[in-house]
Amino acid sequence: MKFLATILLLVPAIAALEFPQCPSPSWPTGPGSEIRAPGVPRDMARILSGISDKRIEAIIKKLTTFHTRHTLSRQDSPTIGIGAARDWIKSEYDSFGGNLQVSIQTYLQPIQAPRIDRPVNISNIVAVLPGYDSNRVYVISGHYDTRASDVMNPDIEQHGANDDASGVAAVMEVARVLAKQKFPATLIFAAVAGEEQGLYGSNHLAQTLKAAGIDVQGMFTSDIVGSSTADDGVKDPFSVRLFAQGIPLFQSSAVQAAYAGVGGENDSPARQLARYAASVASNIATGMKVRIVYRLDRYLRGGDHRPFLIAGYPAARFTEPNENYAHQHQDIRVENGKQYGDLAEFCDFQFIQRVSKVNAATLWNLASAPGTPKNVTIDTIALGNDSKMMWIAAKDDNLKGYEIVWRPTTAPDWTNEIWVGLVNEATVDLSKDNVVFGVRAVGKNGYKSPVAFPLPSV
Ligand SMILES: *[C@@H]1O[C@H](CO)[C@@H](O)[C@H](O)[C@H]1NC(C)=O
Ligand SMILES: *[C@@H]1O[C@H](CO)[C@@H](O)[C@H](O)[C@H]1NC(C)=O
Ligand SMILES: *[C@@H]1O[C@H](CO)[C@@H](O)[C@H](O)[C@H]1NC(C)=O
Ligand SMILES: [Zn+2]
Repeated sequence: MKFLATILLLVPAIAALEFPQCPSPSWPTGPGSEIRAPGVPRDMARILSGISDKRIEAIIKKLTTFHTRHTLSRQDSPTIGIGAARDWIKSEYDSFGGNLQVSIQTYLQPIQAPRIDRPVNISNIVAVLPGYDSNRVYVISGHYDTRASDVMNPDIEQHGANDDASGVAAVMEVARVLAKQKFPATLIFAAVAGEEQGLYGSNHLAQTLKAAGIDVQGMFTSDIVGSSTADDGVKDPFSVRLFAQGIPLFQSSAVQAAYAGVGGENDSPARQLARYAASVASNIATGMKVRIVYRLDRYLRGGDHRPFLIAGYPAARFTEPNENYAHQHQDIRVENGKQYGDLAEFCDFQFIQRVSKVNAATLWNLASAPGTPKNVTIDTIALGNDSKMMWIAAKDDNLKGYEIVWRPTTAPDWTNEIWVGLVNEATVDLSKDNVVFGVRAVGKNGYKSPVAFPLPSV
C-alpha cells in the first residue's frame, strides 16, 4: 500500500503557539450509558464493573494456603508447594470459559548462580485470548512464586499475598471478565514463576514469543499491587505507580544514541506505552490515577517487565504507591510486638480491584485500537522549518487513519493533535527543533493506538 498524499498543515509559528489540551475522544455516551465521562467507552465501563473484590480476595487467600510457592519448593504434592499452586491457577483459568486458551508452559532451568542451586522445572500458566484481525499481542502478568527473608529457603512458610498473589489475582480477574470479549488484537494473561530467583519465568515467556516472531506491542507486569498503606499508616488508595524506562537501555548503543541524540530520552516505546495507559486508565471507570514514574523500576529492585524490554518489547510495571517493607520478603514472625510477613490481612482487596480495572481498561483500549504505527521517521535530510514524518501504513480494516501529536520538549505528555488522514507521510509547518512529535493510528471505532516517536531518517 502506498499513499502519495502529503499534507501541508499550516500551523502558526511556534512562538505564537499556546498548548491547549488534546480534545477528549468522543466515546459513545448515549442513552443507557452508566458512565458519561470522556475516555470511558460504555461497553468497557460495564465489563470493568464486573471485576470483583470478593473474587480477588478469594484468589489471594487460596494462594496463601500452599505453605510456600517458592520456585525451588515441592512440585509433587497436590496441596503444598509451587506445583500445587501452579495446578490450582491452571484449573481456575480453565473455569473462566469464553475463548481463553489455557496452557502450562514449562522449561527445565539449569543451575544458575546465585539463586538456582539445582535444576528446576519453571512453569508459567499462559491464557491466550486470540484476536480476530491481527497478529498483534498485548501481555499482562503477575508472578506466583514467593520468597521469605532468605531467598534460597524453599521450605519456610511464606504467603506472598502482596508479592505477588495480588498481581496474579489482578491478572486472573481481568482474564475472567474479558474471556468472552472479541478484540482485533490477541491478549495474553500470564502467571509466571521464578521471579524472585531472577525473573526466569517471564524471561522464558518473552524469549519464546520473540523466537516465534510475535509482535508484542505492549506488556505490563503487576507486581506488589496489594495495598496503598505505608508503614506509618499513610494511605494513597486511588493511585498506582507505573514504572517506565526512558532510553532503551537493553537495546544496541546505536538505538540508544538515536533516541538520546535528538532529545528522545523521554520518548522510548516504554514511555509511550505508559502515557497511553495513564490516558486510558485514569478515569471514573477505574477510580484510579496512573502515576507514571520515569524509571525502569524502584532502586535495588527488578521486575518481570525487564525481560520483555530485553527482548525488544515495550513494557512497564504497575506497583502500589507506598510499599511496606515489613510485609515483603520477610519471614512470618512477630518481633517487638510487630507482625512481619507478607500476609493477606495486609491487603486491600478494593485497591487490587481498582488496579485490575486499570489493567483491563488499558488492555481494552490497546486491543480495540489499531496497532502502533511502524517505521516512523522524521525527515532530517535538509534544514527547514517544516517537519515531515513518514511511516508504513498498516493493512488493517479497522484503520481510519493517522494523527500527528506534539508537545513542548519540556512537557510530560502530548498537548496537541492533528488528524492527517489515511496517509503514510505528513508535513507539519512547525519546526521539529522546538517540539517533540509523535504519530498514532486511529481506528474506525474511535480507539487510538499508542504513539510512535519518529527517529531521524538519516
Ligand atoms: C521436570 O519435569 C519433568 C516432567 O514432569 C520430569 O520428568 C523431570 O523429572 C522434572 N525435572 C526436575 C529437575 O524436577
Ligand atoms: C521497518 O523497520 C524494521 C525494523 O527496524 C526493518 O527491519 C524493516 O526493514 C523496515 N521496513 C521498511 C520498509 O523500512
Ligand atoms: C523559518 O521560520 C522563520 C520564523 O517563522 C521565518 O522567519 C523564516 O523565513 C523561515 N524560513 C524558511 C526557509 O521558511
Ligand atoms: Zn514481586
